[in-house]
Amino acid sequence: MQIGIDSIAFSTSRYFLKLETLAKHREVDYAKYFAGIGQTRMSVFPLNEDIVTVAIDAAQKAISNVENKNDIDLLIFATESSFDLSKSAGIYVHRFLELKEDCRVFDLKQACYSATAALCMARSYVLANPNSKVLIIASDIVKYSPNTSGEPTQGGAAVAMVIATNPRILSIEPYYGVHTTDIMDFWRPIYKNEALFDSKLSVYNYLKSLEISFARYLKNSKLQSSDIDYVCYHAPFCKMARKANNLLFKNKSVDNSLIYNAIVGNSCSASLYICLISLLDNTNDDLKKKRVGFFSYGSGSVAEFFSGIISDNYKNMLSSEDNYRMLSDRIEISFSEYEGFSIDDFAYSFSLGKYENIGSVTLSRIENGQRTYETIRKNITGIRLERGNSVARIPQTASTSLSS
Ligand code: HMG
Repeated sequence: MQIGIDSIAFSTSRYFLKLETLAKHREVDYAKYFAGIGQTRMSVFPLNEDIVTVAIDAAQKAISNVENKNDIDLLIFATESSFDLSKSAGIYVHRFLELKEDCRVFDLKQACYSATAALCMARSYVLANPNSKVLIIASDIVKYSPNTSGEPTQGGAAVAMVIATNPRILSIEPYYGVHTTDIMDFWRPIYKNEALFDSKLSVYNYLKSLEISFARYLKNSKLQSSDIDYVCYHAPFCKMARKANNLLFKNKSVDNSLIYNAIVGNSCSASLYICLISLLDNTNDDLKKKRVGFFSYGSGSVAEFFSGIISDNYKNMLSSEDNYRMLSDRIEISFSEYEGFSIDDFAYSFSLGKYENIGSVTLSRIENGQRTYETIRKNITGIRLERGNSVARIPQTASTSLSS
């Protein structure tokens, strides 16, 4: 039985900061960011946008391809940016998607690896329940402290995937290589919004874990490197994926898989799957029946190399133009706005002005630790967010190129 990704979509903030702007204010040579790290922009999130609102947007797009959403009886929300240690972020999404009540919902955490853990779990679940569909949402917003070496590698996004039998995008193969080791390369204590990290150790352990998990994958699958046509890597920054590729697959290009990550930044659990979307959207060659290798890495650390085969009619399932429009319609913010966005205070945030959500739902209030989400009205040019007499800025038409 073929099981895999039947529908996939992603979403990110309406706002981005150019790394050129960050470099100027941090007095760093911009070449370090675009050439050394491989990033040109990063998504930044106003306080009314969080892992839930962006997840709802991705999920609404992904389930628009599902004939009967009552077939979804499991929703797994993969995140490491959780704001609540008890309630699952997935429950808010379940409500806004109007999924049926007899649907299991829970969050899953293991740094950037969690969506791959969800995929593995979903595959087994569908194998046991072939009439069921599983909705996986990977949603993360990555924050490092100002003036740290991690600052240019912030970002955020959500990917939603429907896992089903006879998948229309990619069948997951039963081969994998896993490597788990207890290491402090990146962590976020519960009292902090910003992650802490050991740069050099994290890069070293990512590459070492790749070598080990790939060797295990080859042994388990009895395949050879040459049997793999394309590879997608977890991309905390694009240069990391390029370094990984140089280690194992020098003759294969990862350019197409990294186009979106270079301007979205690190989206942790979503990052690897944004690479897949970027590969599918931006590769002109026919990918049907091609084998794609995936390297998933979550600090702490768990790594997995696995593979899938692209479905025959995958092109019918792509939303390339919508993705391109979403990214090119984003709004650039100034450095002072960027600094304001990082202040975690609702009253202060609203005093900065009104910021748009990417999708149809906004976070409108936090009181007593309770988050209130509301549906907002849409108009033709974008989303109009009204609070009192003020109206949000309306998005301009695509005026920026994705590359600068
Ligand atoms: P750094 O110390 O700022 O930078 O760390 P660097 O000195 O290592 O330089 C980076 C590259 O820029 C080097 O190239 C330099 O030569 C080059 P390389 O030797 O690597 O090829 N460079 C320049 N190039 C051109 N012109 C210049 C110039 N100056 C330097 N003027 C780092 C950079 C990305 C590591 C840092 O931002 C960081 O620590 N980020 C956060 C941690 C991270 O992303 N680690 C990646 C692996 S761990 C992971 O993937 C998991 C994670 O996603 C979390 C999770 O699992 O949840 C992070």
